[in-house]
Amino acid sequence: MRPARARRHIAVLPCDGAGKEVVPEAVKVMKAAGADYDFQEYDVNADQYMRTGEPIPAQIWSDLEKADSILFGAVGDPRVNDAAYLAGVLLRLRFELDLYVNLRPAKLYDDRLSPLRKEERRKIDLLILRENTEGLYVGMGGRFKKGTEEEVAIQEDVNTYLGVTRIIDYAFKVAEREVVMVDKSNAMTYAGALWQERWKEVARRYPHIKTRHLYVDAAAMQLVRDPTQFEVIVTGNLFGDILSDLTAELIGGMGIAPSGNVNPETKRGLFEPVHGTAPDIAGKGLVNPIGAILSASMMVRHLGQQEMASAIEGAVESALRAGECTRDLGGSLSTSEVGDAVAKRLRD
Ligand code: IPM
Ligand code: MG
Repeated sequence: MRPARARRHIAVLPCDGAGKEVVPEAVKVMKAAGADYDFQEYDVNADQYMRTGEPIPAQIWSDLEKADSILFGAVGDPRVNDAAYLAGVLLRLRFELDLYVNLRPAKLYDDRLSPLRKEERRKIDLLILRENTEGLYVGMGGRFKKGTEEEVAIQEDVNTYLGVTRIIDYAFKVAEREVVMVDKSNAMTYAGALWQERWKEVARRYPHIKTRHLYVDAAAMQLVRDPTQFEVIVTGNLFGDILSDLTAELIGGMGIAPSGNVNPETKRGLFEPVHGTAPDIAGKGLVNPIGAILSASMMVRHLGQQEMASAIEGAVESALRAGECTRDLGGSLSTSEVGDAVAKRLRD
């Protein structure tokens, strides 16, 4: 247990590109909502990496470990053509802080934002729970005879009893009606068998929650056919990554989708929009800050301030319905004007 502190220490990591534009809007909105946090921004970004060769310098890392929560923008830069940078920032934070739950909610705030034709199937309000610390992301494997025509590349899919059990268990704890488990156990038989066994065992402990299993290809199809059928989906790291881009598109696109990376036991958390650095539009006031603002709302909720979190979400919903949004959602406001529009609703 870390000692209780009067003010929460929020580490702010805008990082690169679009992240630098959207994170200040999220901070602006939290302040307008009355959040009394001690925000501290850290110099973790591509410039810093190119200067020092360290994705996260040791001194900053020790602060991040102590922070109550981390608000994160996006990481990546066309000048850094190096997977070590991404792995050394975002994946390191997820893995070493053991943020094993990746919460990716998808809720449609305004009917006009759905790409689906059938009205009764648009009202998506679901939560993808993505295992966030293992799977194909752990970076195990290698390249043999690299660069030759005999090359062999191996990327290991790591699934542990503990890792699979705890994410499935978390899904049952947060669901009210039904948990759908998504895997590819018909083709990936070793990892799939472990997921199936843990799924059936954990489900027995929650007899009041309905259960359903889908292979990931069928899940993708069902999400487009009728997303209203889902409440909670639990799945592995890569499948969760892919399906959550799909669900982002069902609520208005990448600019709007939020996410949280949390450890329910230690209460640590890192909150970030699902979108990346968007180098094609970054720096021009065009990027949509809603994904970051909704991530901030998730952070506020995680810190125990439910009412403030709902107020932020409500202000976002009302701004979206009034058409006060960026061009990707059919509006004409700039990044900071959207932040202002949401903040104004919280102050009024
Ligand atoms: C995401 C991103 C990351 C992921 C990338 C940047 C490694 O796509 O957060 O969804 O795959 O987890
Ligand atoms: Mg992704």
